[in-house]
Amino acid sequence: MNSAPGKLILAGEHAVVYDQPALAMPIAALRASVVAEPAPSGAGMTVHAPDLGLVWRLRATAPLSDLAQRTLDYLQLPEPDLCLTISSSIPIASGMGSGAAVGAALVRALAEQAGQQLAAHVISDLVYQSEKAFHGTPSGIDNTVVAYEQPILFQRQAHADPIIAPLAVGQQWHFVVADSGIASETKAVVGDLRQRWLAEPDLYNAQFAAVGSLVRQIQVALAGNAGPEFGQLLSQNHQLLQTLGVSCAKLDHLVQAALEAGAWGAKMSGAGWGGIMLALVPAEHAALIQNQLRAAGAVQTWQTSLLPTQAAEEVTHDHA
Ligand code: MEV
Repeated sequence: MNSAPGKLILAGEHAVVYDQPALAMPIAALRASVVAEPAPSGAGMTVHAPDLGLVWRLRATAPLSDLAQRTLDYLQLPEPDLCLTISSSIPIASGMGSGAAVGAALVRALAEQAGQQLAAHVISDLVYQSEKAFHGTPSGIDNTVVAYEQPILFQRQAHADPIIAPLAVGQQWHFVVADSGIASETKAVVGDLRQRWLAEPDLYNAQFAAVGSLVRQIQVALAGNAGPEFGQLLSQNHQLLQTLGVSCAKLDHLVQAALEAGAWGAKMSGAGWGGIMLALVPAEHAALIQNQLRAAGAVQTWQTSLLPTQAAEEVTHDHA
């Protein structure tokens, strides 16, 4: 079985499409997996997603068929006689990167058939090319974080490969994640913002730059150990996302409920208009905040945490 995790955007969503930095982390507990089983000779390749009630053939016009074909081309493999079955615990259309995770698991499963283990940047690039063909203008952060499976800073560059840097984490940070229950398509939200950016580029570029400088401060806070300050920066990011017109009443309500229940900070995460929000919480209040979020209308909640890194100790030491 091959798998890939879901992801959370910690800060900088949307502005990252316009070349600002953003921070993302994998959620190891939520995964997509692909099981490959041989099919009768001449049967070709089919992709099954029983959870979604869907079946694709390799030659279909569907994102996963496109990705499978790109991967076979990369591996220089002819169409195999193979039945691929996808399962995933990552809620779809929720901002947790389910599409990218399924894609990364699919690429890994095909590589295994060829007896190869692909590097994270190759998997990430194959998923990105396919997302671009079907989803307009993705920044590339989702495919990157699910393929690398570690907290990263990601920044597109106009004339070069994106910057991908592992994040320093100063202490164990605890997060509560809540699903608004409102399905939201990333492509629609990103496309709508693009129209508004095209109409008023100076206004939106200034807002994206404000998000970018906040992301730099959040990167430093993450490497430190001051929860209330870190949380406040995340809440400021939420306010900028509201200004960008990508939040919604339910997400705003959940953010408010988390803050009232004792979170250090809270924000929507991912494309918005629905999907999820996250709260940075003191560990001892995590369960209470989770309960309050359910009482406030969240349809599902999770706890996840980021563990301190070696690099973080160096950063902390530098600041001492
Ligand atoms: C979606 O997870 C993050 C967005 O910034 C879109 C993208 O980066 O492609 C909203």
